[in-house]
Amino acid sequence: MAQVRKYLIAGNWKMNKTASDGADLIKGIIQEVGEQTEVGVAVCPPFTGLETAAEILEGVNNISLGAQNMHPEPEGAYTGEISAAMLRTLYVSFVILGHSERREYFGESDAFINQKVLAALESNLKPILCVGETLEQREDGHTLSVVSRQVNEGLKDVPKDKADQVVIAYEPIWAIGTGKTATPEMAQEVHGEIRSILVQLFGEATAKKIRILYGGSMKPANADELLAMKDIDGGLIGGASLDAKSFGKLVSSALAASRATA
Ligand code: 13P
Repeated sequence: MAQVRKYLIAGNWKMNKTASDGADLIKGIIQEVGEQTEVGVAVCPPFTGLETAAEILEGVNNISLGAQNMHPEPEGAYTGEISAAMLRTLYVSFVILGHSERREYFGESDAFINQKVLAALESNLKPILCVGETLEQREDGHTLSVVSRQVNEGLKDVPKDKADQVVIAYEPIWAIGTGKTATPEMAQEVHGEIRSILVQLFGEATAKKIRILYGGSMKPANADELLAMKDIDGGLIGGASLDAKSFGKLVSSALAASRATA
């Protein structure tokens, strides 16, 4: 990957860890990540863990905090939901949007996810927009058309001057939590396609700055070869982010990849 982009390793904890268990994990991650600042690192605990995480991360400048979802409206009668402004008060800087689990289990559409992306940017949160195909879509040869639709619709009306705040995560659904990973070549093909859509939407110079993460059973054993690919700018990590040592090893892999291309 070219050096215009800083690698990002982001942990999506999903519905795991109480606030106090999360605190222990973050303390471990701080130890593992050390002082390095060449690779961006983010942890995304459940909502209930954000405040404790923010307290622990106060003064830690090389690990950012992310949330896993938010509602597009600034406030109102949306029982159970959280707004961008609420996240901002907890020093959150990233928010995962449109994860396949939200799309599948909570019926989130591209249009709704797009509203969230716009609202996040409006509040100076960096959206991590997740896209990816099902196994059936891949087997039917629809991977690129599905991902292209999700990227185009998810980023509709994003102003060009804010586009470099966006992070895309390509997560093939069949690789999430299954132990099956896309080969580096399979992932690069989709990442390359996403990059060309970004060029069409925002122009070459901006598209080059947008990070495209891979997600789906990324772990220390397979990270090096994925991170070596031209358009893979980091990882969105589920299972392996719940263990400080594994997560730290992924940060080390990104650091090595970053230095190799420097
Ligand atoms: P796993 O790393 O557990 O496959 O999860 C990936 C993911 O969904 C991250 O958002």
